[in-house]
Amino acid sequence: IGRRFICSVATEPLTKQVEENNMDAPKEIFLKDYKEPDYFFEKVDLNFQLGEETTLVFSKIFVSPRVEGCSAPLVLDGADLKLIVLKVNGEDVKGDDFHVDSRHLTLTSPPSGKFTLEIVTEICPQKNTSLEGLYKSSGNFCTQCEAEGFRKITFYQDRPDIMAKYTCRIEGDKSLYPVLLSNGNLIEQGDLEGGRHFALWEDPFVKPCYLFALVAGQLESRDDTFITRSGRKVSLRIWTPAQDLPKTAHAMYSLKAAMKWDEDVFGLEYDLDLFNVVAVPDFNMGAMENKSLNIFNSKLVLASPETATDADYAAILGVIGHEYFHNWTGNRVTCRDWFQLSLKEGLTVFRDQEFSSDMGSRPVKRIADVSKLRSYQFPQMDNFYTVTVYEKGAEVVRMYKTLLGAPGFRKGMDLYFKRHDGQAVTCEDFFAAMRDANGADFSNFLLWYSQAGTPRLNVVSNYNAEAKTYSLKFSQEVPPTPGQPVKEPMFIPVALGLLGSDGKDMPLSSVYHDGILESISNNDQPTHTTVLRVTKKEEVFVFNDMLERPVPSILRGYSAPVRMDSDLTDADLYFLLANDSDEFNRWEAGQVLARKLMLTLVSDYQQNKPLVLNQQFVNGIKSVLCDSSLDKEFIAKAITLPGEGEIMDMMEVADPDTVHAVRSFIRKQLASELKNELLITVGNNRSSEKYEFDHQNLSRRALKNIALAYLGSLEDAEITELALHEYRTATNLTEQFAALVALDQIPGKVRDEVLADFYDKWQHEYLVINKWFALQAMSNVPRNVENVRKLLNHPAFDLRNPNKVYSLIGGFCGSLVNFHAKDGSGYKFLGELVVQLDKINPQVASRMVSAFSRWKRYDETRQNLAKAQLEMILSANGLSENVFEIASKSLA
Ligand code: PHE
Ligand code: ZN
Repeated sequence: IGRRFICSVATEPLTKQVEENNMDAPKEIFLKDYKEPDYFFEKVDLNFQLGEETTLVFSKIFVSPRVEGCSAPLVLDGADLKLIVLKVNGEDVKGDDFHVDSRHLTLTSPPSGKFTLEIVTEICPQKNTSLEGLYKSSGNFCTQCEAEGFRKITFYQDRPDIMAKYTCRIEGDKSLYPVLLSNGNLIEQGDLEGGRHFALWEDPFVKPCYLFALVAGQLESRDDTFITRSGRKVSLRIWTPAQDLPKTAHAMYSLKAAMKWDEDVFGLEYDLDLFNVVAVPDFNMGAMENKSLNIFNSKLVLASPETATDADYAAILGVIGHEYFHNWTGNRVTCRDWFQLSLKEGLTVFRDQEFSSDMGSRPVKRIADVSKLRSYQFPQMDNFYTVTVYEKGAEVVRMYKTLLGAPGFRKGMDLYFKRHDGQAVTCEDFFAAMRDANGADFSNFLLWYSQAGTPRLNVVSNYNAEAKTYSLKFSQEVPPTPGQPVKEPMFIPVALGLLGSDGKDMPLSSVYHDGILESISNNDQPTHTTVLRVTKKEEVFVFNDMLERPVPSILRGYSAPVRMDSDLTDADLYFLLANDSDEFNRWEAGQVLARKLMLTLVSDYQQNKPLVLNQQFVNGIKSVLCDSSLDKEFIAKAITLPGEGEIMDMMEVADPDTVHAVRSFIRKQLASELKNELLITVGNNRSSEKYEFDHQNLSRRALKNIALAYLGSLEDAEITELALHEYRTATNLTEQFAALVALDQIPGKVRDEVLADFYDKWQHEYLVINKWFALQAMSNVPRNVENVRKLLNHPAFDLRNPNKVYSLIGGFCGSLVNFHAKDGSGYKFLGELVVQLDKINPQVASRMVSAFSRWKRYDETRQNLAKAQLEMILSANGLSENVFEIASKSLA
């Protein structure tokens, strides 16, 4: 989600064992070590005195021991804090009774029974470039507390199972900070002496401190209202600097759509009278679901047809939905500890995926999500915010729905909220709610949470013409992963259809399995798709009365996050590509064919054989491209080749130059053989009307743009003219940027001029300029590292802004040929930058360093070069824990 930049292979278990590193004594924290806190916090009153040099934070906490008579020390977390006052029950705490170090404040002998704890700390938000805790972004104060940022604001038990009610009073200069926001309801505000003013906020719901938020600054809001289905009138406000307000219309539309959708699909209503969204330009991640005060990276809020692409519009819809949905899945019910992160993230990603599907095209959304799961080649996220927790977590939630059906899934959700509203719980609690609400037998399903690695599922089919039976034999294997050498078989739901020679689904009514004839009909009606429950290392399913050999469509809709191999022939795959009623598998058949083809050509290239493109493949692509009965957005996906990362993942030794050469060869070859069809596609899909973000229009643009991209690979003058024309006449960024991308592939004067023109035109729109940085960073022109180094000094670049770093440095790491250049110049560049960045923002630096994490997949020369950079990074002075963790784990 623009929100998450992640890597491809889901290897850690979902309930990940997080390591917390301490320079001197790295120590691992394990899930099994979870201990209930000795003290709970019932209520917290915060008071912020915002200042230009320092900010004072007054905190009054109402503490109650979990067990009566408890005399254990109370240990509070803290980082970069100056302790000013410490009182217990209104009295200063004596020197012997507390202890402070760089990470903790310990009350060595707290009173028995309930007590109040008052703490005053001094912090320096203006100097906080880590963008965690309280910091300034473009002159405004804002906070980021997930996962462990609250400890940079005040001493606290910074763990999600400490759930308290909060009030928050904010005091600041009225002209500099006219807007003062926090969670919950505004209950009082007023003017103070010296040009200052205050606001007092009260949040009626208990929450963990990671959901606390504060914003203060010069902001204006777009206001709207939403009436919930029970008639509550909710004020909706999206806050930005005044000049950006016109760009918030789509975000507001998305928010209202999300609120309605959650009522319709899950019966979940918003629970307060106010919902705020704030857009800030400096943010490490995508967005944050703080209770009633969501804070967003501005790129996931601001959009206009001229400055945002269809992909941006779609991302905004999805992320506004995601953060809103967290109000129930994350906030009302939260995580007991950070090992349970997938409880809220997997479930909420699933919910945002479903929301986007319902708002657009379901199969296309599924294709996009699965491609991302498979091949997002961008560095892995800081510590535990990974593709495993988010996207694989969503796949696990999706399997519940596949197994239970939509009504059964809804029953499980209802029970989950009934049992756990207001609690901090575990993934097992979610599992139990799903199981109990449906009286379901989930066999070994829980292994999805604890067992790491992606299962490999192998399928062998057999048609017996005499007995008229068709059998599918499934065998599965989960590869060993560090710490888990031996794996149990998993519970894999396999959605299956069988196609007859007419290309239609055969009606299915029963299957032999384990010696039993199981009925698979649905209310006595034969079905076309059934879900087989594959749970053993090896098992066979047999279909009777098969008058002909069917072509199986296996794992429809990608019903389980596994890697599948099957004995389907190329003819079967072309047949599925042409006929499967399951659009996901129709796309998948094309992808399997393309992957096979690419791997064959990779090996040809490595053996210096000439590359030749198989004509059947060209025809297959051509027939999809020219099939006017197909959805245009689907066609755009279906004619897109698998990503380079996906192919590298399938190789013994990843060979970036070869993979790039092969993919470019196929693209160019397809473009030249289908040049006419592609030109017609561009011509037929031009727009004249005004920009609309609806399915019909965005599909048309998607198809036109991919056709243009193919044509750009031809590097000929006629195409340069065409792309230039599209560039000049475009009325929206989606089409203009696509034309720029096409031209970017054709080195020469036109390319340089058009890149300069684009900068001139958009220099005042920083979000557009980030795309301009990314495009150049990803370029495959030889020795592009030098251009990227120059761009670091461009006046529009700033190492302190995460979005700019992700565009330029992240973009560069995504370019196969230049990042992985055999002379080591790309690795050296990244190594240097990580060390520099780490001093500014460790979280961003650690996200960048994970571009190295898969270094062992490459040849020896590259391995040595990458390893040397990792070692260099580890030897840097004052390295952060974030970078230390990722770099040292990569080397291990
Ligand atoms: N919880 C946020 C989300 O998924 C992501 C996030 C994590 C943001 C940590 C900031 C810090 O919506
Ligand atoms: Zn989330």
